[in-house]
Amino acid sequence: MTEAFADSCLDPSFAISGQSPAAQIESNPATFTTGGSWPRDVWAASGLGATLDASVVETGSPLELVDLCTILCVLGINDPWVKLKQLMYLLSPSPHHVTIRLGCDLYYRVARRLLRCFDDFGEAGDFVVNLRQCNGSDAVELGLHAAWTAAAGSPARRRLATFRGSYHGENLTASLISDHQPQHGSGRLLVERAEDVVFFPSPRCGDGGYLTAEALATLASIERDADKYFAVVIEPIQWRESVHTVPLEFLRRLREICTQNSICLIFDEIHNGFGYTGTISFAGNCGIVPDISAMSKGLTAGHGSLAIMVAKKQFKAISGPFAGKSNASDMLSLVAIDAVLDRLLGMAPEEAAALPEWLPPSLAEELRTGLLTTAYPRTVAMINALFDELRRRFPSLVGRSTGMGLVRGLVINGPDGRPSEEAAAEVAKRCLVHGVYVRQAGTAIFVKPSLTLRQSEADAASAGLSRTFAHMLRARGHVPAEAVTAQ
Ligand SMILES: Cc1ncc(COP(=O)(O)O)c(C=O)c1O
Repeated sequence: MTEAFADSCLDPSFAISGQSPAAQIESNPATFTTGGSWPRDVWAASGLGATLDASVVETGSPLELVDLCTILCVLGINDPWVKLKQLMYLLSPSPHHVTIRLGCDLYYRVARRLLRCFDDFGEAGDFVVNLRQCNGSDAVELGLHAAWTAAAGSPARRRLATFRGSYHGENLTASLISDHQPQHGSGRLLVERAEDVVFFPSPRCGDGGYLTAEALATLASIERDADKYFAVVIEPIQWRESVHTVPLEFLRRLREICTQNSICLIFDEIHNGFGYTGTISFAGNCGIVPDISAMSKGLTAGHGSLAIMVAKKQFKAISGPFAGKSNASDMLSLVAIDAVLDRLLGMAPEEAAALPEWLPPSLAEELRTGLLTTAYPRTVAMINALFDELRRRFPSLVGRSTGMGLVRGLVINGPDGRPSEEAAAEVAKRCLVHGVYVRQAGTAIFVKPSLTLRQSEADAASAGLSRTFAHMLRARGHVPAEAVTAQ
């Protein structure tokens, strides 16, 4: 097929733009709003898995970049199976978009596959799903609508409990319930705060591994005023809080209080869900089951825009006109989530038996077994080894490891030896030109690799981060032997 496109405007190598990367970046101020939409100093041309073929815009030098913070590409860049299934769908006469009023097979197939992942948390049929959201913020907001509607018969239940260190997105509702906020010069947008939203401290354990007095006080406060709360919303891993994992003991006790007092417990699983902590839902690896789970990143592995809410059936009612975003559930996103489920969990045996013979045997084998049982423990071990190695070689710079599974933070110390946001930001900025992409999250660098990370890519990331750390140590006037060998 691509041969038939050769030399036409459909040729995959046909120039998309006549301008150089440098000229395009230079046009930023006239083209884009600032902030998230403003592309920066490295240019991506192509990629596979965790490796991007890129270049440094200023110098034009080629750069092989290891993406160690995929955010949502849980299968890396250009996953072959998701692309094949999307291609197959595009070549079929099936509708590329199905309006909300009409049904289609794929819609039910995906819903059933997702709900099967929740069967272990009760009886089959205990959960329902909404597949018609585009973004994580939408799914969180929908969760609030569902909890609010369910509490309609108890007008005294008006409060929502949320936590310091949280981030639930950037729409108005999400902003009002998040600690980390978009900053507007003169304050928050439109509404300064919502009276009914109560912020509690980020739940923590003390040195002995027990819940702090502050965390216990939070639980006591929610329990004391339980009849005033309709919901509690919490991220199991607060990534913006230096990738802080909320203690499981806190979640367990919170679950008990919510159950005993009919408060809806909402897990914002936008970051940890869909494979990044080894299961589809966090409940799968900790046994603590929320009433509502909001998920988004990972669902399509970056091959489409989709967010979902899974809720216990007593939270199924949502008052209109909500619950169906116009752009949600375009068919290619549904094809993608179906293919991602194949990749993460493995295919049904009768479908695996019908795989084409020309598929590379390693891909076919992965599709039979699912990456969560095979690749996940291997990739977590690679990240553990990477962090151990960096801590051993750069003890003054690299602090503790945070997060869990593949949602990880590595705390970076400032010149005074204490965790430092500036130092973490400097690592995130500098390591790009050393061939590694990570983000900053508070005092940590945020590392969220794809499940398909290869050992050679982890080694390249280790070398790039080592060069970055050696550079920073030199700038601080330290030239320890191990930093020199890292160059
Ligand atoms: C924990 C959490 N919840 C919700 C959101 C919002 O997702 P979106 O940006 O897709 O609206 C984010 C985004 O980063 C997030 O990290």
